[in-house]
Amino acid sequence: MARQKLAVLISGRGSNLQSLIDACAAPDFPAEIALVLSNVEGVQGLERARKAKIQTSVISHRDFADRASFEDAIHERILGARPDLVCLAGFMRILTDGFIKRWNNRLINIHPSLLPAFRGLHTHERVLEAGARFAGCTIHFVRPAMDDGPIIVQAAVPVRADDTPDTLAARVLEQEHKIYPLAVRLIADGRVRVVGERVLIERAAPAEGTLINPAG
Ligand code: GAR
Repeated sequence: MARQKLAVLISGRGSNLQSLIDACAAPDFPAEIALVLSNVEGVQGLERARKAKIQTSVISHRDFADRASFEDAIHERILGARPDLVCLAGFMRILTDGFIKRWNNRLINIHPSLLPAFRGLHTHERVLEAGARFAGCTIHFVRPAMDDGPIIVQAAVPVRADDTPDTLAARVLEQEHKIYPLAVRLIADGRVRVVGERVLIERAAPAEGTLINPAG
């Protein structure tokens, strides 16, 4: 089967982008990155993409009078790469309903908390302040409300008594780098269905040539 094409949107460091680049390097991974788009020039994520010989594009929100015209520009640019799936990976702009609806169920995001808890910024500080026992991260389909939408994959991380926001963020990030490629793989393998705003993960089809025992 042809590999699914991804467009990855970033604003900064791009360590989640790197986890996708590394996953796509495996010959049996069912997706490839067709475009990395950043709204900020000069960020590390762009460097990572160039190193991996992936097409990059920078469209700064500062060059547009309003959100809608910025989004029209990124929409056109993304369309040009003909992606099957758009991955937000540390893309720090709020997107409007119009953009999100154009990519309905083809736009996914990573958020460093166990959604629906701790939406928004400064998640690790707030997890520690709240005394939560677990932190974590979530990959979800994007919906118009912030950090909202059907949950595809999550990973939980125990909070330690001596955690600081930085130590907790580092342990959560390790999990982020595992679940983003996992979610992309599930989607690209056609195993993810959104039913009533919840995600159902279908079982993997048996590998070609596998004998199926109808009695068993
Ligand atoms: C990641 O921790 C990601 O979960 C978070 O930004 C970081 C980007 O790091 N995203 C959000 O907070 C979105 N609400 P990266 O650029 O190294 O991937």
